[in-house]
Amino acid sequence: MQKNIEKTAKDINNYKRKTIFYKSARQGFSEILKFLKDKYNEYTLLLPAYIGYSPNEGSGIYDPVIENDISHYFYSIDENINIDINDYKNKLLKIKGHAVVLIVHYFGYVDPKIKEIVKIARNNNAVIIEDCAHALYTDYIDRSCGDYSDVSIYSLHKMLPYKNGGMVRINNPEVIQLNETDNYYNILEYDLRKIAEKRKKNTILIEQELKDTEGIKILRETTFYKNQTPQTYPVLISKADKNKFYHELNAKGFGVVSLYHTMIKDLQREEYNIANNLGSKILNLPVHQDCNEVSLKEMCKEIKILLGEDNERK
Ligand SMILES: Cc1ncc(COP(=O)(O)O)c(C=O)c1O
Repeated sequence: MQKNIEKTAKDINNYKRKTIFYKSARQGFSEILKFLKDKYNEYTLLLPAYIGYSPNEGSGIYDPVIENDISHYFYSIDENINIDINDYKNKLLKIKGHAVVLIVHYFGYVDPKIKEIVKIARNNNAVIIEDCAHALYTDYIDRSCGDYSDVSIYSLHKMLPYKNGGMVRINNPEVIQLNETDNYYNILEYDLRKIAEKRKKNTILIEQELKDTEGIKILRETTFYKNQTPQTYPVLISKADKNKFYHELNAKGFGVVSLYHTMIKDLQREEYNIANNLGSKILNLPVHQDCNEVSLKEMCKEIKILLGEDNERK
């Protein structure tokens, strides 16, 4: 008699996606770039023209590219930090030989044209790396990203209360294989679903407080970004001095950041004015799981006061 159902699952590769831990996402990214260099000998990497650096942290995306001496081009992004599809396509078509594309889900949000972006890469036989450094929850809880690529990277210390931690998931083992490491982070100890819920709730609260406020441009309206969990909530301070906001809010105990305040040197050129301009205006407001409603409301009130002060001075 033919036996075709085992009592329990035995196929170790069924639904498995190999997942490797590193001290940081950039370490994992570096290993991917190295692997591809060994495999192809020569290849060209396409990167988004929105990459920052800071003297303390360097550049999480760009440092591995330079360290591994990878030849690369930048594709433009628009004033909403979405991919400029025409430029992306033109740059990809310019590549002779193997192409590798990096797609970054900035602040945990997915580009509205992601399907077209992926299709263009696939039509040109490019390897796709998804930078989910900010998108752990958008992938694992919302399932809105992570499946577009051959390999995806995650920054655990940005999304969970770790001092360090990064992760790489191999989505297509026919394209990428990496060795195991000794690192391990048990992310299942955290209730990722509840954390994602809390982050979304915090985002809605901030949006309600700040929408229709003169001088603030909301970059990621929640109604257009359903099923995506933010790392931070990005807004543009359009008419005032962003640096003043950054310093005064932090001095008052509101942990805002600026992703990114300064572009890497190679992007500090007129050609990339959009990115540099965004860098001078962007403020990323905290929405993480430790934020409480009262403090978030106070932060928004403080932002409005700062805007008011600025308007009065003009
Ligand atoms: C979009 C993006 N990708 C990758 C990284 C690298 O993350 P990690 O600090 O874990 O190396 C960062 C942060 O620097 C980032 O902002």
